[in-house]
Amino acid sequence: MKINISNIKKSIHLLKKDECIGIPTETVYGLAANAYSNKAILKIYRLKKRPRNNPLIVHYYDINSLKRDCRINKIFLKIFKEFCPGPLTLILKLKKNSQISKHINNKGKTLAVRFPKHPITRFLLKQLEFPLAAPSANIFSGISPVTKKDVKEEFGRKIKYILEGGRSNVGLESTIIDLTKKPEVLRLGGLDLNTLNNKLKLKISYKTKNKLNYPGQSRLHYSPKIPMKLNIKKPKKSSAYLLIKKRKINNKNFFYLSKNKNLSEAGRNLYKLLREIKRKKYKLIEVEKIPNIGLGKTINDRLMRASYR
Ligand code: TXA
Ligand code: MG
Repeated sequence: MKINISNIKKSIHLLKKDECIGIPTETVYGLAANAYSNKAILKIYRLKKRPRNNPLIVHYYDINSLKRDCRINKIFLKIFKEFCPGPLTLILKLKKNSQISKHINNKGKTLAVRFPKHPITRFLLKQLEFPLAAPSANIFSGISPVTKKDVKEEFGRKIKYILEGGRSNVGLESTIIDLTKKPEVLRLGGLDLNTLNNKLKLKISYKTKNKLNYPGQSRLHYSPKIPMKLNIKKPKKSSAYLLIKKRKINNKNFFYLSKNKNLSEAGRNLYKLLREIKRKKYKLIEVEKIPNIGLGKTINDRLMRASYR
């Protein structure tokens, strides 16, 4: 997608005035503001209706800009070299003299950092003198947005501007890894863990237990607010049915994540289809069993949280 300079200028202008704007990333759209400004950060929490004890991810252009705020270590550099920019967030220790707003993290000790790959947002970050705090651009606990239109649906006229960047290519939030102690995955996401571990000869793992209550990892999350049933073979006629492989018959209530078990494609389509189903006012969503491998693990994690009641 071509970079439209006047859109970038408008974004810079608003961000410098402590406004929040929608920005595209390859995972999902973010609600972005100056990470060094207390005023701007408080606006994000208000707009999102997000509990204040749930810290934000800060988006950087490169390591140089990151070094002002965080202490970096060997394992960080190793992961960075191979997978950044990309759908990955790393937790680091915050430097004492960092300018990061105290409202981003109530304890002020660690910071979640990410280097988004989307070319338009990278171009924007390069022009700015501050990094961008950006949670997913949805009201707390709802479905993350993957297009400009989705962001509009969430916030209406409450935000002044959304930077157009097409549809998010990954369609699932970033994978979060805590590097402040023995590396551990805090959230499954758009970067498949096997790929990371195999490539770097690491054994970073995700333990499902306990994680449900991690800040921002609450049980009811990513939710279309419609009852949802998983691992369904024979759907009801009245429900929306999410599938991962092609069936011989086709029904109006069938929504294909993929027609050939392609898990990247399924990830890309998940939030888009949940939003569409919600718009069509279905009262129940049933989901075919999704293979629990690679990105399928992330998809199952999101489905499980979305279906929690
Ligand atoms: O793909 C993404 O990560 C998107 C795009 C916009 O970058 N952002 C996103 O942000 O998903 P959000 O705020 O919706 O989710 C961030 C998660 C939350 O669960 C939060 O609790 C966790 O990251 N988090 C943030 N800072 C943390 C920290 N210092 N330690 C542990 N967890 C942290
Ligand atoms: Mg979110």
